[in-house]
Amino acid sequence: MADLGLGAQGRAGGAAMMGPAAGSEEAVRAGQERVSVLISADSIAQKVGELGELIARDHPGKPIHLLGVLKGSFIFMADLARAIPASVSCDFLRVASYQGSKSTGEVRFDMDLTEVITGKVVILVEDIIDTGATMDALLRILRARGPASLSVCSLLHKPDRTKVRVPIDYLGFTIPNKFVVGYGLDYDGRHRNLPYIGVVEGLAE
Ligand code: IMP
Ligand code: MG
Repeated sequence: MADLGLGAQGRAGGAAMMGPAAGSEEAVRAGQERVSVLISADSIAQKVGELGELIARDHPGKPIHLLGVLKGSFIFMADLARAIPASVSCDFLRVASYQGSKSTGEVRFDMDLTEVITGKVVILVEDIIDTGATMDALLRILRARGPASLSVCSLLHKPDRTKVRVPIDYLGFTIPNKFVVGYGLDYDGRHRNLPYIGVVEGLAE
């Protein structure tokens, strides 16, 4: 693939690639769908390391409380937590807003946090900000609980799809308007286990 507008995520040579490189295509083991690689596992690992360092640097000496938005963020969150050189605690919440690859236009808050966030340095961890509706709804709910600070960390952002503008304090990659899977993201429950971010071929936009 030529210019994907992905910014500086590529790495020229050097470290061994984990899995296929960007631009390659593989028939996914769990089915017949073909997935083309948009962001390699190696590029993701490098970016997650940078985000972790940045988050720690921005909050010197403070414990960081990560809130993962299930299910999509679970792999990103696991890697990010280990990339932050600080005291880190983790909690999770779940919202439902999508069926298949199309938005239902509805955001449902269906699993709440297990710990209070009042007075904590909180980072909300998302897999992707698409229309921004989910993040906007979540930020309003969480701000009302009085965290010391509330920042957003998203692995991916699709700016072409923005309906509601939300602040993204820490961003991995800007991607084109394609439905992506892998590294936690799914298509009807499948492909979360792919180690890279890929595009399912043949889906209607
Ligand atoms: P938003 O509310 O439109 O920003 O959607 C955010 C949520 O939709 C994400 O947290 C994902 O769970 C899901 N989503 C949006 N785009 C994609 C995609 O390309 N692949 C997989 N899930 C997506
Ligand atoms: Mg999500």
